[in-house]
Amino acid sequence: MKKVCVTGGAGFIGSNFVRHLLESDDDVAIVNVDALTYAGNLENLAGLETDARYTFVQGDISCPADVESLMAAHSFDTIFNFAAESHVDRSLHFGAQTFIATNVLGTQLLLDAARAAEVRRFVQISTDEVYGSLGAEGRFTEATPLAPNNPYSATKAGADCLVRAAHHSHGLDAVITRCSNNYGPYQFPEKLIPLMIANALEDKPLPVYGDGQHVRDWIYVRDHCSAIEAVWRGGRPGTVYNIGGLHDVPNIDIVQLILKQLGKPASLITYVKDRPGHDRRYAMDNTRIRTELQWEPTFTFEAGLKATIDWYLANSQWLQHVRSGAYRHYYDRLYGDRDAVG
Ligand code: NAD
Ligand code: TYD
Repeated sequence: MKKVCVTGGAGFIGSNFVRHLLESDDDVAIVNVDALTYAGNLENLAGLETDARYTFVQGDISCPADVESLMAAHSFDTIFNFAAESHVDRSLHFGAQTFIATNVLGTQLLLDAARAAEVRRFVQISTDEVYGSLGAEGRFTEATPLAPNNPYSATKAGADCLVRAAHHSHGLDAVITRCSNNYGPYQFPEKLIPLMIANALEDKPLPVYGDGQHVRDWIYVRDHCSAIEAVWRGGRPGTVYNIGGLHDVPNIDIVQLILKQLGKPASLITYVKDRPGHDRRYAMDNTRIRTELQWEPTFTFEAGLKATIDWYLANSQWLQHVRSGAYRHYYDRLYGDRDAVG
């Protein structure tokens, strides 16, 4: 049986990936290592507690002692590194130190540990945001130069460079996936789609940054998970794979669709002060993963959004838990001084 380590497995994509891999491969055992920050939530893994192939360990990837004891206790075939500080607005408004600690230092500690333990493969989960912003035309390819524009994407780009260096200098078998914006079950309601669903359900204003014409390329989280699995199994060592759903649309269209599906009025839309340095457009060219690894996304945006909205409707208790206490404080701090404009 292959033993794999998933860092950040109590977060949005990590928890979906744990479920995906347990379903797709009977011959895999997973150790999920997560620090349980505000974004980490064991409720995301409910039902797996009794699965003998699944183990949870609370640990911080930026803490050398935690990484050391993890590696001493287990012999891993693969490390999937999902753990990250992942929200652009937090990196802009509350400082970048934790982003540097987890995304940069944490990745390097894991790379060193993987090398020392002769882990077979290291899979780094990265993002399209490392490429910066596109103009009106074109898509990011794997050859697009790194040009991160905010502290979050800068730390993710830093991590990618460290993974590249570990492969180039030390021969570590490492692959990097760069995915576009995900949506789906268990996403923390600080990101666009779950935040808009949650606010609409409470008839609260939907805060659209700037003119709402910023474009993101959306992919359903389970399609991202199958792409990561494909790269893990068949990706060439030292190679970057772009992942995207080829559904790049302006934010305002997404918000309008959510309101329509929930039967809520467009008057809830509130244009607010823009994010500083807000990247205008992301769109991924996913030719490499499609042609080399025969991966294809399976969810249309309409089907994925419906599945997502249905999930949030059916899991109001989950939403209520994550939106209590610290979340209220966060929301007031971030949106309190973002006056409506226009
Ligand atoms: P998330 O914020 O929902 O989850 C992050 C998880 O990492 C949480 O469970 C958190 O507790 C854990 N974590 C944070 N710091 C840690 C530390 N020091 N040690 C151990 N665990 C720690 O993020 P997500 O949206 O699930 O993103 C997962 C990964 O995918 C990230 O690396 C992110 O950069 C990447 N990514 C995300 C998207 C997206 O649209 N959400 C798109 C492309 C790539
Ligand atoms: P987000 O979900 O934070 O992802 P990212 O910044 O990593 O792409 O934001 C997606 C888009 O939605 C981005 O252009 C910013 C915009 N946005 C809003 O307009 N209002 C909001 O309240 C949030 C959270 C995001």
